[in-house]
Amino acid sequence: MTPLIIGNWKMHLTLRESVDLASALIPKLSHRTDREIALAPSFTALSAVREAISTSPVRLAAQDLFWEGEGAFTGEVSPAMLQELGVTYALVGHSERREHLGETDQMVNRKVLAALRGDLRPVVCVGEQETARASGRAASVVRAQVLHALQGVLPASAGKIAISYEPTGAIGTGQAASLGDISEMHSLIREAMSTILGDAAREVRVLYGGSVSPSNIKALMEAPGIDGVLVGGASLREAEFTRIAAYG
Ligand code: PGA
Repeated sequence: MTPLIIGNWKMHLTLRESVDLASALIPKLSHRTDREIALAPSFTALSAVREAISTSPVRLAAQDLFWEGEGAFTGEVSPAMLQELGVTYALVGHSERREHLGETDQMVNRKVLAALRGDLRPVVCVGEQETARASGRAASVVRAQVLHALQGVLPASAGKIAISYEPTGAIGTGQAASLGDISEMHSLIREAMSTILGDAAREVRVLYGGSVSPSNIKALMEAPGIDGVLVGGASLREAEFTRIAAYG
């Protein structure tokens, strides 16, 4: 399985700054053919970043999408609109959206199905909050998130899906989860997926996200069962993201 490294720029960088960062990264990332790299700028920068990366194998990712094809949904962006911009991946259910925008498991599921219908590859973010981990509910929370997110997904679509395990205590804190905790959760995620996808669950890439940095990327990517990473803060810094993408 080709490892997947996604830089999630979140609500950072203006259009100009996004193009500048993408343009600076491209010469440094383009020669890596043994890994897949994607950039997730804001919606407003997707088109310009697409131009900036057009001559490279680096792919474009959206940070979100809406589940309907079109209609009276002010402010939302449809899968077809993203398709038209050359987007390959769409993040779904990032913990920041779950927390600040009230995104529920049901909404996440609708977005996953809409992404697949729209020929986009969903990257479903799951992960327990710190309180859930402290009270011993991390496994049940994550299992439920996975089962909800994949409801109605057919095994034939498994290869198009990625799940990113991102415990909220590790996001933006400089404290990545331990390899032991990640490995435990990744096994649990695979097991939960197999109840819906059967053997095809093996085709789903399972990523890790949360304070990924140049200093921990090697250990993460060497750990069994980690098929890639979702990088937040470090993806905004050219030198750091270049080092992350060049791991190994
Ligand atoms: P971080 O963010 O790398 O800044 O911790 C990760 C994420 O939100 O996916």
